[in-house]
Amino acid sequence: MDNIISVSQLSKTYAGGFQALKSVDLEIQKGEIFALLGPNGAGKTTLIGIICGILNPSQGSVSVGGNDIIDDFLKTRSMIGLVPQELTTDTFETVWTTVNFSRGLFGKPANPGHIEQLLKKLSLWDKKDSRIIALSGGMKRRVMIAKALSHEPQILFLDEPTAGVDVELRKDMWAVVKTLSDSGVTIILTTHYIEEAEEMADRIGVINNGEIVLVDAKTELMRKLGKKQLTVELQQNLEAIPTELAGHELALSADGLQLVYTYDTQAERTGIRSLLNELDKAGIKFKDLSTSQSSLEEIFVNLVKRPS
Ligand SMILES: Nc1ncnc2c1ncn2[C@@H]1O[C@H](COP(=O)(O)OP(=O)(O)O)[C@@H](O)[C@H]1O
Ligand SMILES: [Mg+2]
Repeated sequence: MDNIISVSQLSKTYAGGFQALKSVDLEIQKGEIFALLGPNGAGKTTLIGIICGILNPSQGSVSVGGNDIIDDFLKTRSMIGLVPQELTTDTFETVWTTVNFSRGLFGKPANPGHIEQLLKKLSLWDKKDSRIIALSGGMKRRVMIAKALSHEPQILFLDEPTAGVDVELRKDMWAVVKTLSDSGVTIILTTHYIEEAEEMADRIGVINNGEIVLVDAKTELMRKLGKKQLTVELQQNLEAIPTELAGHELALSADGLQLVYTYDTQAERTGIRSLLNELDKAGIKFKDLSTSQSSLEEIFVNLVKRPS
């Protein structure tokens, strides 16, 4: 896979002395949808700001398309479209004027054909003569994306594209992102919604306290970190977990009718057979067995929970 962005040992300490990024290494692959997942204050916007050349790094380097973001700023910046976290859309200008103007800011010659295509792809074409201030929230977000893509960048950053947005609009935004991805744009989005990363991303990076905790393909992440649970439905309720079963990671439901066994999917042995043997020996009869896998949500909460 070709890398389109390469972040190397990147650190950022703000003027007040706060270290928002701690030696971050990250590779973004050409054409992928990458979700940077992390709680508020983790450093997501800081990382994007540096890659886009809005903030200076304190240490380390970033290259975009093989060019250094400081030495070749104009080149790297023109490869990138950014939809910032804070939307600025209270303008009386029309969609058409605004998007064309954005393109001009990058020194690109006017290209009405490209803007037309873009607005059509974003379902904004019939709104091209509307004033932006009069549009719905969802349409305003689409205009922000159109602005970010006006100069034909290969990379699109979406910083919290659906923060504070209702569910319907969120799904709508996911569809827009998929369309853009299909057209070949590399997409990096930040989010603190696990569902969003789970729904959209090819790969997920988890950031916490300025550090990348892990980066992996979504499916790998779920496979590696996912704990599985086996639920044993008992025929008769138990008052407590019998002492002979103490060696297993077991929990008893409040009504005493379910034993829940948690096991590691990566381990060589699941321990299920020995558990069932011991249940048998202890004379505990069950009527049913079922398994479930932890969601990305649980995985994430486990990763970013603060040491107590
Ligand atoms: N200009 C700044 N000066 C000092 N600290 C800042 C500044 N901007 C952000 N921070 C701090 O850096 C940390 C990371 O912020 P940010 O990158 O915005 O996180 P995220 O986007 O993941 O919510 C936060 O603790 C935030 O308070
Ligand atoms: Mg942010």
